[in-house]
Amino acid sequence: MDRRGLVQYVRAHGDGVVSSLGPDGAPQAAYLPIAATDRAELVFDARVTSRKIANLRRDPRVAVVAGGRDGTTLQCEGVADLPDGAERERCARAYLDAFPQFAASLSDDGVVLVRVRLTWARFGDYRPGVSSSGEVPLVAVRRVRADEWQLARDLRLDALRDEDAGIAFLETYEDAAAQPDTLYQDRASRAAEGDDVAQLVAVDGDTWIGSVTVLVQRAGSLDYHGLPVEHSRAVVVGVYVRSEHRGDGVVDRLLDEAARWSRDRGFDELALGVHQDNARAQGAYRRAGFVPSGITFTGSIGPELEMVRRL
Ligand SMILES: CC(C)(COP(=O)(O)OP(=O)(O)OC[C@H]1O[C@@H](n2cnc3c(N)ncnc32)[C@H](O)[C@@H]1OP(=O)(O)O)[C@@H](O)C(=O)NCCC(=O)NCCS
Repeated sequence: MDRRGLVQYVRAHGDGVVSSLGPDGAPQAAYLPIAATDRAELVFDARVTSRKIANLRRDPRVAVVAGGRDGTTLQCEGVADLPDGAERERCARAYLDAFPQFAASLSDDGVVLVRVRLTWARFGDYRPGVSSSGEVPLVAVRRVRADEWQLARDLRLDALRDEDAGIAFLETYEDAAAQPDTLYQDRASRAAEGDDVAQLVAVDGDTWIGSVTVLVQRAGSLDYHGLPVEHSRAVVVGVYVRSEHRGDGVVDRLLDEAARWSRDRGFDELALGVHQDNARAQGAYRRAGFVPSGITFTGSIGPELEMVRRL
């Protein structure tokens, strides 16, 4: 089964068992109608006062099982959130396409819509004469490993050949391609461990499809524009998603992981600079919770604005 097959399976079954973690860490399960978005997120609704919502606010990890009755089953694990704005509308559309009869509950203030972004799924087929199970390839978001410097270099070089590279990255393709392997080896090993820099990559099966890098800028040092840093903070750079995966929510997952990494290191704000003409990147950042800080500056690629996300 692939990602598309997973979406079709959830839509065909339309329900499942959702497990969340109770206050003492013990699993709690509920049987629910479940929809799937085109991006293979699971969507369900719940009363805001329900124990599952209290659980998900405390710990967003969930496990979901769909199917079972016909001898096939889909086991999933993921991270839940309560989307708002345009994201809620998109998820609500998927939910109402599946369950038009629940339209009234979605406009009830006492009901919230839950989205689960999947991190792992396995399809099992145990019908008579068949016995097979296999992992469904999903996009995984994780930190780079030191030995992956060649993959990191390849993705970087592809990013620098993107048609928007001129308003996205400070480096040119020619400069990056001329750098020695040792630069990429060193960069990957620093980005793989420690608290100063983290490269986060989105991997679809074996293919790297996107990346962001978080840099910790310490007060008193110079930032990547050569300007003095006044207070320590976390900054996102090198945001890139391959064109065939744009609009799939990959950038949201990368930015969420960047936010989590930064929060875990005590930062309460994540900042980035974006070219004033890079409307698509600005749209993605706004959706991911970044707002303009009011600071604008002219860097080596031209006029940029700073955007920040509270953590
Ligand atoms: C920037 C990037 C990572 C964003 O990822 P993405 O998957 O393309 O982003 P999305 O499509 O999810 O979101 C883009 C948003 O801008 C909107 N948008 C798309 N093109 C737009 C345009 N030309 N003008 C204005 N808004 C636009 C989209 O509708 C979407 O907003 P919505 O969710 O409210 O509808 C990706 O486009 C990319 O890698 N670009 C090249 C490199 C780059 O520019 N990096 C950023 C450096 S700061």
